[in-house]
Amino acid sequence: MGAKRRFLVTSALPYANGPIHFGHVAGAYLPADIFVRYLRLMGEDVVYICGTDEHGVAVTITALHEGLTPQAVTDKYHPVIYDLFKKFEISFDNFSRTSRLPHHKLSQEFFLALEGKGLITKASEKQYYCPNDRMFLPDRYISGTCPQCGQPNARGDECPRCGSWIDQMRFTDPRCTLCGGVPEVRDTEHWFLRLDLLQPRLEEWFSEKQDWKSNVRTAALAMLKEGLKPRAVTRDLSWGIPVPLSDAAGKVIYVWFEAPIGYISSTIEWAEKNGKNWKDYWCNNETKLVHFIGKDNIVFHALVFPATLLGMEGYILPENVPANEFYNYESSKFSTSEKRYVEPERFFARYGSDVIRYVITATMPETQDSEFRWKDFQTRNNSELADTLGNFINRVLSFIVKNFEAKIPHPGTLTARDEEMLALRGSITSRIGAEIERYAFRKALEEYMGFARECNRYFDERAPWKSMKTNISDCAAAMYVSAQLVLCLSAIMRPFMPNAAGRVFAMLGASALLCDLDWAKGGEHLLPPDWPLGKPEVLFTKIEDAAIREELSGLAGGTASHV
Ligand code: 2FM
Ligand code: ZN
Repeated sequence: MGAKRRFLVTSALPYANGPIHFGHVAGAYLPADIFVRYLRLMGEDVVYICGTDEHGVAVTITALHEGLTPQAVTDKYHPVIYDLFKKFEISFDNFSRTSRLPHHKLSQEFFLALEGKGLITKASEKQYYCPNDRMFLPDRYISGTCPQCGQPNARGDECPRCGSWIDQMRFTDPRCTLCGGVPEVRDTEHWFLRLDLLQPRLEEWFSEKQDWKSNVRTAALAMLKEGLKPRAVTRDLSWGIPVPLSDAAGKVIYVWFEAPIGYISSTIEWAEKNGKNWKDYWCNNETKLVHFIGKDNIVFHALVFPATLLGMEGYILPENVPANEFYNYESSKFSTSEKRYVEPERFFARYGSDVIRYVITATMPETQDSEFRWKDFQTRNNSELADTLGNFINRVLSFIVKNFEAKIPHPGTLTARDEEMLALRGSITSRIGAEIERYAFRKALEEYMGFARECNRYFDERAPWKSMKTNISDCAAAMYVSAQLVLCLSAIMRPFMPNAAGRVFAMLGASALLCDLDWAKGGEHLLPPDWPLGKPEVLFTKIEDAAIREELSGLAGGTASHV
């Protein structure tokens, strides 16, 4: 095996202002989790970093709505979010918080270093001010029609529809989010990240990224073509990281400047806990930095944070930013505030983590918006997971338990078809790995299900229930091969459905092997003859129509007042 590759994988830091829903998971977390689980199985050096984004107006506006302080909001939602990620089996190596003092310090260091290099400079700018609320109205405190795509009620930071980073002075119909009033324009002083000065270096770096997803390239190239302008990285707010300059009283660092630095402060926290050197990851050209995000975060990860890192010097830049499009819920947006989401406690108690991981992956918004549908959830569970994958595993294991004393049979002489199936294990494992490496998770899963179908076809062709009576050694060969196929199916299952994979390993009596099966040797793993199996169980149970009707009626009831 070649030298280990080193990966630093991040998922967007969710705002600690509410629970996460399937839409978040489909965008930035499940694809990253499949990617890192696969890399770990390949034996690569990988660290998977995340945490909550605890500053900015997303938090202060929630605080106003909930009658809490911003600190209380983040203290409330950080554990809620973390717990939900655990339910989805998202396997972060570190899950931090941007309210931690070391993060504040690091962000201030970045700010001062760039200011010292003339890459952050002070200037006066015009800003909306609400005389009624007696405050400046940064970011989401203002809304209006998106100047880019015409979306009404776009937030003053980024457009929820087209994802563009809005210059709020371009709104023609600005409104104060708090009181709905028309704001006035006032002068205020801010510090600006000199994206204009960094543009040439950014362009040179970006020109090598021809293989990035087209949604990311298109958004970044459009901004580069228009010419990057200095953007304010300070705000007139009391909640946030104070600007570390004597003439900046009352100003905090803009959340979108410091939140991505959270990837670094979270890595430092992980390194300290695990006796590692964080610079081996962030300051080493060998490291591949991959940011998983949703499309509304593209500009910040493809341009603004790279600009910050370029300005700092000595840091790596992203190898890739595989942004997903939006994931909707039965034709509309997921929204926790409007109760258009699936209640997680009940959901996980009923269905566990495997089916939802499978269904979200199969419908992931990789190239265009896509959606979760209960009917599709049922169909995929029943026909793909239960009837195809689970059925094959169950047929094979039950047959061996019943007819071969629950031990892997001796293969004897294998047929050409048997050899073909054994060989398929290696090629399918590496094909699926290649799809994961190019962030094509839907395709990877399709290949996987195609393989499960082929396993069923093989079983039907070999008809061991017939050869059992006529040619026992032929039957033993078919069952030996089928058992190896079950092992391979469970090994490939691990990044996609880790919980189900563990259950199949237990049925194979092979739980102890779970961690040892190197992905790269997917075609070579064998359960030896006489290996004693565990107890076969049904892997996926069918979901009845009545359950789906209930889910859909809950959805209708929950949203009646909002649609
Ligand atoms: O859009 C969001 O939810 C942001 N909190 C994402 C931040 S990603 C990173 F930069 F921290
Ligand atoms: Zn107002």
